[in-house]
Order: sequence, then structure tokens, then C-alpha cells
Amino acid sequence: MKKSISGFSKLSKSGKLRWMVENFFKEPENVMRELMSYWHSNEEQQKVLDGFSENTISNFYLPYGVAPNFSINGKTYCVPMVIEESSVVAAASSAAKFWMARGGFRAEVRSTTKIGQLHFNWTGGIARLRADLEDIKRTLRLDVSHITANMEKRGGGVREIELLDFSDQEPNYYQLKVSFETCDSMGANFINSVLEEFGRSLQRFYADSGEDLTIIMAILSNYTPDCLVRASVECPIEDLGNFPNGMDATTFAQKFAQAIRIARIDSFRATTHNKGIFNGIDAVVLATGNDFRAIESAGHTYAARDGKYRSLSQCEIVDGRFRFWLDIPLAVGTVGGLTKLHPIARRSLELLGNPNARELMMIIATTGLAQNFAAVRSLVTTGIQQGHMKMHLMNILHHLGANEKETQATVEHFSDQVVSFTGVREYLEKLRQPKQRTVRLSKSRR
Ligand code: MEV
Repeated sequence: MKKSISGFSKLSKSGKLRWMVENFFKEPENVMRELMSYWHSNEEQQKVLDGFSENTISNFYLPYGVAPNFSINGKTYCVPMVIEESSVVAAASSAAKFWMARGGFRAEVRSTTKIGQLHFNWTGGIARLRADLEDIKRTLRLDVSHITANMEKRGGGVREIELLDFSDQEPNYYQLKVSFETCDSMGANFINSVLEEFGRSLQRFYADSGEDLTIIMAILSNYTPDCLVRASVECPIEDLGNFPNGMDATTFAQKFAQAIRIARIDSFRATTHNKGIFNGIDAVVLATGNDFRAIESAGHTYAARDGKYRSLSQCEIVDGRFRFWLDIPLAVGTVGGLTKLHPIARRSLELLGNPNARELMMIIATTGLAQNFAAVRSLVTTGIQQGHMKMHLMNILHHLGANEKETQATVEHFSDQVVSFTGVREYLEKLRQPKQRTVRLSKSRR
């Protein structure tokens, strides 16, 4: 069997698929048919999807759900979410409804600046760079004006250019740290194009200097601590109401606030806590065609900004009021990238009322906060498994081909039992045993 190939990318889509199934699967024809069944029925749409990546052989489906009843700054949203994990959308919806009845969420964008870096080696020393810096900045800005003109018309462009000296840690290594405003686009292409042009311009600037200047790389930073949004909720403690198992509002608020403090003290807990936040954030980021890897990496770096990885959300109880909030960097766009190209991302934005990037930042941060609220609320009241297991049970029943009657009986049976795959299978097997035989068997046993 031949498991490597040269010229794979030049094969047609069916050719790639055929090579793959013939070399890696036991039932090539079946697998080929199955993967082809996921091709889009509309050829044009399929071409759009294939255009996003390389070597595509099929489409990978994920559930697309919505969480209604999100009140943010007085406006109501139905939030689109793409996620494969059960309970996440239900939890977001439940938290949205909970807070809608208590004044809704508040959100504010604190800043929208993004960062790019030009990394270079220079043998001429820091003093000369510093002496030339104002000249360098002027020249660089002028040399990128053909790239920045349009963005400037929209109110964006290059903001600050800062010279950083790392030569004590890496011989001859310096950096231009550049800040950008990219308006409604995430801005990666714009920033990278400007930085690469900066690199060529800087090289020209020192071409006759008698020193060596080498551009190492020019690339945006996905750490965007100044592209920051805050989402928050607050209400008098008594308005929180009562919780399962007879827990009153004060006990809940105190336990909840302690759970958040624990996630600020302990990085093991903080990682899981923040994962819960990203359950909501990634789902909306994906649904709107934004880059979830960029959002994740920025969020985790931000969570460790004081040297220790901590919870991204915070909670306080002051003067009888419960306050819960989340600060998070979110470099997202509503124009450019996949946002308008992906057919469903386009619909997601339409569902949200075609927000600009700032509004989308607020919607995404709020969904993260709602998700976090729902998760921690479950953790400090019923435990997380109760909700999870309900969905898990339905998945197991679906997998085992249970009909409606069997599903009903099993759900009832497991309402106060621990759900496990084996337990459900055994229970279903018992249900499925023919009644008469059971009677006869039990008689003969007697
Ligand atoms: C599961 O996907 C997310 C949680 O673990 C988050 C948390 O523990 O806060 C429930």
C-alpha cells in the first residue's frame, strides 16, 4: 500500500478523495460515497467552501444553533452559535433569559487598537536608531500611504510606531512595535501588508549606511490587550431568586463569588473556568466567520498578563449588590475575511442586525459571560453533570436507536440515576426483551 504521494494538490477533488480512500480505508467505495454525500448540493456554494482551504475532499458539519433573549445595552439579540458540545447553547440561552429578567447585560468597548511587529537585526546600535527614529517613522508612513489610504478614509490606519531594544537578550535584535486601528475589519491582511512594506522601506532607509540591517519577520501580534471589551451584569442579591436544592440568593451569591475567586487564585481551575467562557465566545466567533484561534490565544495571554494564569471574569458583592463581569480582548471583524464570504457567517451577521466590529465585540463578550455564569451557577448548585447527563443520555439513546417509548421510559428511569453508556444499554436491553418470555422465564425460575 502506498501511503505517500507527490503532486497530491494537483489531483482533482475526486482524485484526492479516491487516492485517500483507496490508501487508508477498508471499504473505499463506501467511504468515498459517504464523504461525497456531504458535498454541498449547490455547486457554486461548494466552490466557495473549497476556496477557503486546500486539498478539500468534503465538508465537516458542526451544529449551528441560536441562543435567543440576549438583552445587551437594552437591545435584544438572538445569538448564533456553532459548537459541537451538548448543553452549551442551552446554558447560554438559560443565562440570557435569567439576566433579561434582571435588567440585561451591559457591555462596553474600552479600546480597539491592534499591534503589529517588525523584527529586525541591525549592526549600527541603538543610539543611531534613536537618532534617526523620527526620520524613519516619516519615511515608513509615506512609503505605505498607498496601502493605508482607504483605511484612513474609514478612520483607521497606522497609529503609533515604537522602537524596542532587545539587543541585551538577542545580539543586534530590535523591533518596531506598531499600533493600528482597523475599523470593522479584523485587519490581519492590512496589518501584515503594512508591516512588510515597512520592512522594505526600513531596508532602503539604511541601504547606504555601511551597517547591516536584516528583516527577520513582519507580522501582526495576536495579543491585543488594547482591543478590549467588558461585559457585565449586576443586581441586588435578593433579585437573584432561589436556586435548586433550596439554596437562597445570599448563599448562592457568596458561593458563586468564591468560585470566581478560586479561579483567580488557582491556574488549574482558571483554565477550566476560562474554557467555559470560550465555549460561548468561540461558538459566536465561529458562527460569524471570525478567527477563533486568534481570539483564543489573545484571551489566554490576557488571562496571564500579571504573570499568573487567572480567571478572565470577576465577581464582587458590594452593598448588597451582586456584580459579575468579564474583560477580554476580542479582535474581530464584520467585514473582510470569511465574514461575508461564508454563506452562514453572512446569515449570522444578518441575524445580529449586521453589527459593526465594536457591537460584535460586545455580543461575543456577553455570550462568554453568560456561558460562564451558567456553568458556575450549575457548579455551585446542582453540579454540572445533571444538565450534561440529560443531553448525554439523549445522545446515547440516539446511538442505540431507541424509539420514542423507549426514550421516555429510559429518561424517567435515569432521572435519579447516574447515566453511563453501559447502564443505558443494559436498561434498554431489558426493555426490549419480549414480555412473554420474561414472564415465562421468571415463572420457571420460581
Ligand atoms: C465544560 O465544557 C465547561 C465547564 O467545565 C466550565 C467550568 O467548569 O466553569 C463546565
